[in-house]
Amino acid sequence: MSEIFEARDWDAAGRIGRLSVPRAGVTVETPTIMPVVNPHIQTIPPRELAERFGAEILITNSYILHSSEDLREDALERGVHDLLDFPGAVMTDSGSFQLSEYGEIDVTSEEILAFQREIGSDVATPVDIPTAPDTEREAAEIELGTTQERLDRASEFSSGDMLVSAPVQGSTYPDLREAAGEHAVGTGLDVFPVGAVVPLMNEYRYGDMVDVVAAAKRGLGPAATVHLFGAGHPMMFALAVAAGCDLFDSAAYAIYARDGRYLTVRGTEHLADLDYFPCSCPVCVEHTPEEVESDDEQERLLSEHNLHVTFGEIRRIKQAIRSGTLLELVESRARGHPAMLDGYRVLLDHSEQLERTDPASKSTFFYLSGESATRPEVLRHHRRLERLSVPDSLLLAGGPTDTAVEAGEVWTVRPPFGPVPPELSETYPVNAELPDRLDDEAYAAAARGVERLAGANPDCAVALATAGWPDAALATLSERIELV
Ligand code: GUN
Ligand code: ZN
Repeated sequence: MSEIFEARDWDAAGRIGRLSVPRAGVTVETPTIMPVVNPHIQTIPPRELAERFGAEILITNSYILHSSEDLREDALERGVHDLLDFPGAVMTDSGSFQLSEYGEIDVTSEEILAFQREIGSDVATPVDIPTAPDTEREAAEIELGTTQERLDRASEFSSGDMLVSAPVQGSTYPDLREAAGEHAVGTGLDVFPVGAVVPLMNEYRYGDMVDVVAAAKRGLGPAATVHLFGAGHPMMFALAVAAGCDLFDSAAYAIYARDGRYLTVRGTEHLADLDYFPCSCPVCVEHTPEEVESDDEQERLLSEHNLHVTFGEIRRIKQAIRSGTLLELVESRARGHPAMLDGYRVLLDHSEQLERTDPASKSTFFYLSGESATRPEVLRHHRRLERLSVPDSLLLAGGPTDTAVEAGEVWTVRPPFGPVPPELSETYPVNAELPDRLDDEAYAAAARGVERLAGANPDCAVALATAGWPDAALATLSERIELV
């Protein structure tokens, strides 16, 4: 598994990776989006997805091909790449989604895997059971057991060139998701979709989605290629990438276009409500909303815009990872929609987990909101404070100190990091850019840093110059700290 995926640049749990897809003879750069292609309806021909939009891999549904009198023989004879006329890699889904929608399908996992192999799929999928969010625990366990048996039996299909995905289920139970991730990696299969998250996203439960991904990631470990099944709205890509997802698949670009919806990185707009296009893609530059609305090609134009936005956000995310500014990007996306703010706050609940793959040095840390105070870099600094050697008495002061020091050393205290010894003051992340007006969260985080340092050094007399500190943060300090 690790030979097919190489992660290069990291930021939080996000990374730029190279996924080799041997059967297609290509390497796919991640994070990326696999446009969903319905074999019956193609608003944008797959070749154009590759040539105009840069899609390196798409996903289509083998169950639809298998069930179609018209297409099944064609797919078997010509292969799925030729059938769809797509020059890149093709992942296929198995009919699990139809299973969750209609309660039954007429193939076994082995039958549909064999069919996927026969039509030349590059990444095949067994029939997992997408257990809905909030399913009763016992039912979630039983369904997960069935999914796991099918994954075990899918291994024989990954012996050739074809990659096989191992979906991770477990509903909204973090321990089940974690165990499912661990089991999935243990099967030796190749790509790991986190499944049954579509209902969470449809209900804007981005916080729950992040919890599900974080739990699956704990079981999967950092080396696994992670696909977020059915996630296609560009507003949530940065958040999901920061949580450690590498692949997305989007039907949203096409489905939304069908009923006049226009995707943006901040949410979804109805074409009818737009007087101006807030986008500089070719469609939006060359047309007004009114023109698109009265155009016979409305659906195609909207699909094209939706794809431009979708791939544009992917490029922006990759550049942010390279620049070390992914969390700043997530933070700005969190300001676009309240549900995204929930998602970001939950992501930061997992800062310890994100910190493990977060680089030690990145471009300047920007403090942008109270949420910045709980970023992984802040936690890492707090942990580091416990290991620094301290003098017998220490004054922690806001800036170059104007407080008389009777004895001992002076360190600066810089919210949200807290104490900063002179030798670290120019280093990442404490050389952060801060706004002049700091919020209570920045001081509260600084107070946690002060306590961390004091706690690790019981013999050190710690004094803190507290001019400008809000009462809320002062109230959290222990008696140990002398306030001056
Ligand atoms: N498409 C969206 N969600 C899922 C899922 O959980 N499993 C499969 N196989 N396909 C999906
Ligand atoms: Zn546009």
